[in-house]
Amino acid sequence: MSQTWWRGAAIYQVYLRSFADGNGDGIGDLAGLRSRLTYLKDLGVDAIWLNPWYPSPMADGGYDVADYRDIEPVFGTLDEAEAFIAEAHALDIKVIIDVVPNHSSTESAWFKEALADRRARDRFWFRDEPDNDWRSIFGGPAWTQVADGQWYLHLFAPEQPDFNWDNPEVHQEFEDVLRFWFDRGVDGFRIDSAALLFKSADGYEDLDGVHDVYRRWREVADEYGGRVLIGEVWLPDQERFARYLRPDELHTAFNFDFLSCPWEPAALRRVIDLTLATHTPIGAPPTWVLSNHDVTRPVTRYGRADTAFEHGGRLHGTPSDLELGYRRARAAALLAMALPGSVYVYQGEELGLPEVEDLPDEVRQDPMYARSGGTNPGRDGCRVPLPWSGDGPPFGFGPVPGPGAGPGTGAEAGAGPAAPWLPQPESWRKLTAEAQAGDLGSMLNLYRSGLALRRDLLGDGTLTWLPSAADVLAFTRDSGLACVANLGRTPVPLPPGQVVLSSGPLDEGELPPDTTAWVLPPGSGA
Ligand code: GLC
Ligand code: CA
Repeated sequence: MSQTWWRGAAIYQVYLRSFADGNGDGIGDLAGLRSRLTYLKDLGVDAIWLNPWYPSPMADGGYDVADYRDIEPVFGTLDEAEAFIAEAHALDIKVIIDVVPNHSSTESAWFKEALADRRARDRFWFRDEPDNDWRSIFGGPAWTQVADGQWYLHLFAPEQPDFNWDNPEVHQEFEDVLRFWFDRGVDGFRIDSAALLFKSADGYEDLDGVHDVYRRWREVADEYGGRVLIGEVWLPDQERFARYLRPDELHTAFNFDFLSCPWEPAALRRVIDLTLATHTPIGAPPTWVLSNHDVTRPVTRYGRADTAFEHGGRLHGTPSDLELGYRRARAAALLAMALPGSVYVYQGEELGLPEVEDLPDEVRQDPMYARSGGTNPGRDGCRVPLPWSGDGPPFGFGPVPGPGAGPGTGAEAGAGPAAPWLPQPESWRKLTAEAQAGDLGSMLNLYRSGLALRRDLLGDGTLTWLPSAADVLAFTRDSGLACVANLGRTPVPLPPGQVVLSSGPLDEGELPPDTTAWVLPPGSGA
């Protein structure tokens, strides 16, 4: 693969805790991921992004990192991580990991040192009195008092103390961490809360110092070659957003405007145009994201009367027509895959999983739920372990029986795997990877076909809008392939040529509502 593979890559997000459980304790792990690598190869992805895999007390699903240079024992070992990287590379799949530079864990060596010795507190934000009245992004105050009376700042949970990026030691530490993993073969980093590192009396969002940090990180990445830095940057202002993507800073950043956009033609067209207008002048490829581990799953979102996504609201429990949502999620997937740049697939999206909205309160683990006093259900509903096979929970989430399994190997009947850490709905029996694999019309096969065609015909490049009705999005790509998405209420004609893929059946040759089709022009030989 070329040095610029990331410009058009299809990147699959693995939420390790919920992907596959290799040792049967009910929690996903590296052994499980390694046992399912061929599934990802067959799906047709170019890269995997893993949420944090570091040792962590899991106060925020691993975004509370206790040690940036090791692997959480529940997930495996550093040796297993290295084996996983090698196996992925052998399948021509790149590996991107999360790095969390805004905050640490109260269990990190630095924070423990800071608690024990007041002179060691300058790596964090300790004050005699809180400097301000900031609120934590998860709810509640952003300051917590320690035993000797001082307070520390945490933009997220109290278990996630914020680093002080005015301290050069913090800069040095993270450059070392990047090198530690680049040396072990990782191909890139997804940078958590990338715009929040610096704090001042004015606030903490998008302060200027952050750009010097990413310029330096870019130098480090460039020393290795072919590596990528991807920012989690939630900024409404496109000009400010684009500053992160200047040629000597990050390579790409998540397009949350697209993710949050309602399923409405004018809004989507506006977001696509704005995205292209922001990225093209600086030569950065856009990214297209429909879901991740923080947001309501698209099938549920798109089946509601209000199809937009907002963190605060989440519209939890609002009625959703899941059949309609499913149809739209299919159409949205082909739209996202056709747009110029890279595309993300969050695990389970390719299975068409809905949000699990009826989790019992006592199993919810997201700090957002507890810290909002239960008013915000949090993000557990999009983190339920994947259904792989079988007719009932745990749906093959546990170990894949190998040739050595059976009597006498510790895998005797009755000793089955522990229940998954979040319960899976019974109704998922129709949505297992196994059930979908043989069904040509399944979501899984739509993603497989889409990603396969995308590899040759789509990805990085430019887009040209085609004339169309106002509620239709129609454009061609450099290869000549046309993508037409009908968000209106009546079927519309397609451009001449061969329909190579569509998200649903055509209606006498026309494209029905909430359907996307890909069409190759006549004579293009496909
Ligand atoms: C990011 C992550 C989210 C996490 C937060 C704090 O937004 O995606 O899961 O809770 O940062 O690290
Ligand atoms: Ca496990």
